[in-house]
Parts: sequence; C-alpha cells; structure tokens
Amino acid sequence: MPSTLEPQQISRESYRFIAEKVYEHSRIRLGDDKQALVSGRLAKRLRALNLDSYEAYCALLNSAKGTEEIGPLVDSISTNHTHFFREIEHLNFVRDEALKFWFPQVTRKRETFKFWSAACSSGEEPYTVAILLAEYARTHGTFNWQIEASDISSQILAKAQAAIYEESRIAMPQPEWLSRYFQKGTGDFAGSYRVKDCLTRQVKFHRLNLLQAHYPVQPNQHVIFCRNVMIYFDTATQQELVLKLIGQLAPGGYFVVGHSESLLGIKHPLKSVKPGVYRKE
Ligand SMILES: C[S@@+](CC[C@H](N)C(=O)[O-])C[C@H]1O[C@@H](n2cnc3c(N)ncnc32)[C@H](O)[C@@H]1O
Repeated sequence: MPSTLEPQQISRESYRFIAEKVYEHSRIRLGDDKQALVSGRLAKRLRALNLDSYEAYCALLNSAKGTEEIGPLVDSISTNHTHFFREIEHLNFVRDEALKFWFPQVTRKRETFKFWSAACSSGEEPYTVAILLAEYARTHGTFNWQIEASDISSQILAKAQAAIYEESRIAMPQPEWLSRYFQKGTGDFAGSYRVKDCLTRQVKFHRLNLLQAHYPVQPNQHVIFCRNVMIYFDTATQQELVLKLIGQLAPGGYFVVGHSESLLGIKHPLKSVKPGVYRKE
C-alpha cells in the first residue's frame, strides 16, 4: 500500500544531494530556487515508494538500489511539456525552406531525408514533423524520409510509442489532417486518437541521454530539432552538447533550438539563419 503520509519539507542537504544526482545523470541544473518545484514533483514518487521523508529518499538513492531509482527521479523532475504544432514558425521553416532546399537533392540522388527530434518528450514533435513531411510528399511527389526521435525518459518514450492522444490535445492547423493521420478511438479509447501507421512506421524512437558519449542515430541528419531542453543545462553542458549534435548534421543541415533558447555565448561553426535556426556550412 502506498503511504498516505505527506513528506516533510525538503532540507537543504537533501535538496543539494538530489540536485547533484539529477545533474550527474542528466546535466539538468537545479538552482537553489527550485526547492519547491523539486519537493512538489517528488512528493508523488515518495508516496509510491512508501517513504515519508526526503532523507529516506536520499538514503535509497545512496543504497545499492540507488542506480535503479535514478531514472524515475529524473522522470519526476524533468519537464515534458509539449504539444502538436508547437512553435509553428520552425515547422513552417522546415516546410518552406529546409525542404525546398533538400527535396530536389534527395529525390535526384534517391537519398532519404533525415530528421532527428533530439528531446521528443511524448512524441507530439516528431509526429507533427511526420504530418508535415507526409503532406509535402502528397503535394510535391513521393520521397524517402525517416524521423528519429529520442528522449532520456523511458516513461515518456513509452507514451510516444503508444501514439495515443486525448482529443483535446490534438489541434490540427488543417482539420482534414485529423482523419487523414489519426484513428478515432472507440470503447475504452473513446475520446482519444491514435496516430496512423503511415506515420508511426516512419518514426524510430531511441532512449538516449543527450550527454552520452555516442548517439545511436544515423549520421548526416538534414534537420535536427533540439528544442526546449537546452534551457535546463548550464553553459558548459550546452557548449558540449551543441558540438556533439553538430557532428550528427549533414553539411548544409539545419539545427533548431526552442524559441526561448539561442546559441548566444556558445562557440560554434554554424551560420545563424533566423531566430533559433542555424545552418552547418
Ligand atoms: C520540455 S520537453 C521538450 C519537448 C519538445 N522538444 C518540444 O519542444 O515540445 C524536454 C524533454 O527533454 C528531455 N530531457 C531532459 N534532459 C535530457 C537529456 N539529458 N537527454 C535527453 N533528453 C532529455 C525530457 O525528458 C523532456 O521530455
């Protein structure tokens, strides 16, 4: 039976210990002002583990079983907020400029257009791009394309792979895309929609920590989205990450960060194209 006890307030020592563990594993930097956020988000986890104090939780993290708890800890702390067609200017950029450039080349050379959503959360971002690419193929002619999508959290990736979304969370810019790309749920799934196989078979998911040494994704990506995740990292981590991601881009490929992010203060060889969009020369 999970505990019904409310965990006590988090002490400075416990907070620092937890923040260090989170940083070690994910490089998410939790500043001194995030105590309330951390204790709020972890309260549910403590109840599930039947623990009534953060000290007990730290002891668990310190024990032999501690490594198994790191994943759920980072899952509880990290922000997975996302939605379909988020930050639409970037998506319009992919359609109107990146594809305009790459489409003639990939079709002529019979190559595959490669897109990587590098912190994909519950899948809305890669499936949005899948809709965009499928629509591009409908209007400009078939071409080969493949999306890779990755996240550090196995829990959130399971949601992404299930590809089932509540109706209220699917707002399509073109209403006909709903029936073209989603299957309406019935019975237990009434009120939900599932992304159709024509899109899911084009999206390959990986569990991946952006700070790990090697990425199991294809080299020479034509576009990489790394949106709304760098904001949680310190500058040194951002610097390391950006150079690693650039290594996965094809020459001429585009690198896109979130609207509230930029590469200001980071040394990189990319050309700035528009806010949040960069190109490998
Ligand atoms: C706010 S969501 C962004 C989702 C999507 N890119 C968007 O802009 O809508 C941030 C995601 O980054 C993931 N994340 C955090 N740290 C990570 C790391 N070190 N490696 C890979 N993913 C990470 C989180 O699990 C979360 O799903």
